[in-house]
Order: sequence, then structure tokens, then C-alpha cells
Amino acid sequence: MTSSPGATVPWIRIREASAHLGADVEVRGWLAHRRSSGKVQFLVVRDGSGTMQCVAGRNDVSPEAWQALETLTQESSLIVRGRLRADARSPGGVEMGLQSVEIVAIAEGYPITPKEHGTDFLMDHRHLWLRSPRQQAILTIRAEIVQAFRDFMHGEGFLLVDAPIFTPNACEGTTTLFETQYFDERAYLTQSGQLYAEAAAMAFGRVYCFGPAFRAEKSKTRRHLIEFWMMEPEWAFATLEDVIGLEERLLVYVVGRVLERNAEALKTVERDVTKLARVRAPFARIHYNDAVARLHAAGQAFEWGGDFGGTDETILAEQFETPVFVTHYPAAVKAFYMEPDPADPRLSLSCDCLAPEGYGEIIGGGQRMASLDLLTRRIDEHGLPQEAFEWYKDLRRYGSVPHAGFGIGVERTLAWIAGLDHVRETIPFPRMLYRLRP
Ligand code: 4AD
Ligand code: MG
Repeated sequence: MTSSPGATVPWIRIREASAHLGADVEVRGWLAHRRSSGKVQFLVVRDGSGTMQCVAGRNDVSPEAWQALETLTQESSLIVRGRLRADARSPGGVEMGLQSVEIVAIAEGYPITPKEHGTDFLMDHRHLWLRSPRQQAILTIRAEIVQAFRDFMHGEGFLLVDAPIFTPNACEGTTTLFETQYFDERAYLTQSGQLYAEAAAMAFGRVYCFGPAFRAEKSKTRRHLIEFWMMEPEWAFATLEDVIGLEERLLVYVVGRVLERNAEALKTVERDVTKLARVRAPFARIHYNDAVARLHAAGQAFEWGGDFGGTDETILAEQFETPVFVTHYPAAVKAFYMEPDPADPRLSLSCDCLAPEGYGEIIGGGQRMASLDLLTRRIDEHGLPQEAFEWYKDLRRYGSVPHAGFGIGVERTLAWIAGLDHVRETIPFPRMLYRLRP
């Protein structure tokens, strides 16, 4: 049982193994673990698409080949060939009867072992931790959510128009800006592509951008990342009501799609899927004033006019089984571009979507300010430099229309859908207050 040069069996992925029962195939991957009964060796091989048990009997192979198998350490890379057969004891229900093994590289003592490791240790080894089944399940769901965002927006007739990452504009306030040198000028890493999406909406009517956003957040919470990904639709001639409807359809679609396509991954992360199955339209909508009343009724000391903290959001969201829309926040706690509420100019035509089960805000958005005069005043009030926003004000000079949009964060959406305690596992290489490496 050595390498068989010239072997022409097909290279398959473990995910597809059940379609090849009875056939001789090749799998290329890494050794997850190995055990031996003295008479039989069991290799559990993973190839990124799944894991499979491969079995070799002592009498099937030469003594040298048997010894070669004994040298295989965890995470050694290898190419295995053999015949597939159904076996309930193998992780995917398919087992390989080994015919040959090619050792590609013997791994050194692997730092991540089946024993429990602390979070810091695992985060320091994030580049290796990605190989574990739980992390693979999470990132598989992430990829599905991202693809679902794109498919949904495309299906709704929104064109993908991406925004730049270097920008002279502060979109979401000046306190979380990452400043960087841009030749002789100062630039920031984008906090949001929204302002550019607004320009694109005036060109194409319905657009979305999708990319990383950067916030120098000094908060060390389970919901905050320094670098995260956001999908931001922008819709010309639309109102607050229109985008709330769009958000609702998007979330129902995304949750339904993950339930349908990621059942295995949801099981790996031990998600209670009955809670996700309850995510059906219509979602509850509550006015800011109503939200404040609900907080008071729950015994929370909250002053009208303020923004909700994590605990406030959790108290509100716990009252509903579906995500809940909180609308009409005070203008003072929102960004400069929010359209005032005609019914009460202290408030804004804004909306946050709070996820159930204590996950807090996953979407922020609203209707954009249409008046050039008011916009100019707000830019001053927020201490922003007019000249950096002249191009943005042009959108109000040349055919201004009511328009609205929102931003949905991939990581918070994933944390909720996968039922994770912390956003650090939702992105391949998290950037957090005290973590820049690996
Ligand atoms: O509420 P935010 O700050 O809204 C905006 O940036 C708007 N310009 C979006 C728009 O209307 N086009 O952020 C939107 C979403 C949040 O609801 C959250 O999901 C995510 O982006 N988000 C973060 N995710 C992880 N870590 C952070 N530090 C985040 N900040 C915002
Ligand atoms: Mg927000």
C-alpha cells in the first residue's frame, strides 16, 4: 500500500462522496485524527468540504506501508485512494477502504489538540483554528449569507456599485475615524459606503454597495469589530416605509436560505433552529416613543432623547420572536444625513432593526435628507468640513429626490443566525480593540 503512480481514479471532494459509493476515488486533505486497534488503522481525513473515515487492515498492506501510516501526525497532509462504501460510523455516512496513501507532508506537533483551549490561545492561532469543524461551519454560513445578500438584491433589481475605501468624508461621525496619509493629504478608511451609494442611486435608481467598513471603536463588546463587512442598499424615490419593507424581505430570505442550505453547519454550531423558523413577516415595528415607554415599563432608567445601549436593545428585542424595527430615533443621536420627521422635527425618519435573542442592532438606515439648506446646516452642527461634502451636496443641487437606504452588518447578522456568543468568530481574521494579529 504505497503511492500508485499513474492512478487514474477521480479526485473527489468528501461532500460528494455519497454519489460515488462503490467506486474507487481519490481524496486530498489533512489528517484530523488517527487511531489504531493494532489490526486496523482508522484515519479521519478532512478536505475542507467534509470529513471521512478511511480504514486499512493490517493484512491489506505491507509492513512498510503500515509503519508509514503510524508516522502520520494530526494535520499531516495526504492523498488517499480507495473504494467508498456506506458506513454509518463514518462522519458523512461514507467510509473509504484504503488502497493507497501518499504522504504529502508530515505535520509538526499541532498546537490545537482535541483538549479545551482558552479563547486567547485560539485567537492567537486563528490561522490554524480555521481548520476546526465549528469554525468551518460558521464561515460556511457566512459565505451563504453573503451570497444570499447579493442574490436577493440582484433579484430586487438593485445594481452592485461599490464604494471606495479611502475617503475624505466622515459618514458616521468623527469619533471612530481611522486616519491615514494619502500622499500629501489626510484620508480616512471608510466607515460606510452610503454617501457614494447615494450618488450611485441618483445614476441607477436602485443600487447597493458591499464592502469592509472601519471604525475605531473603543468599545470592547461582543458586538463590535474594528473592521466589519456591510451591505448597503440605496433607493431613489423611496421612503422610510419602503426600505423597512425591503429589510423585512431580505431577512426572511436570508434566514430561510440558511435554514434550507446550511442544516449541517447549523447542527455543528448547535443552533436552535426552531427560533430561526419563527422569523416570518410581518416583523413588529415600534416607534422610538413606544420603545422608551417599554423600557420604563421594564424598570429601565432611560431618559427620552438618548440612544439605546446594548441592554436596552436586548430588553426591547426580547419582547418579540422576530426581529423588530425601531423607528423615528431622535435626530440628535443619529448621523447628519437623516431626514427629520415631519410629525416631530426632534425625531428623524430613521430605523434600526434589532435581532431577537439579545443580538441587538443588525441594521441601521432610514430616509436621507432632501433639503440642501438643512443639509448644509447639519454638516456645520456636526462639526464636519463643508468642502469635503460639496460633491455630496451636489446630489441635492441636481435633481434631488427623496431616497432611503440602510446598512446591514454581515458579522452581527451571522452571530444571530448561527447563535454565537461573540462576533470574533464571525469573520476569518477579526480586528478588535486589542487584536491586530494574525
Ligand atoms: O448603524 P450603522 O453605523 O449605519 C451606517 O453605517 C449607515 N451609513 C448604513 C446605511 O444606512 N447605509 O451601521 C450599520 C450596521 C449595524 O447595524 C451593524 O450591523 C453593523 O453595520 N456595524 C457593526 N458591526 C460590527 N462591528 C461594528 N463596530 C459595527 N458598526 C456597525
Ligand atoms: Mg447604527
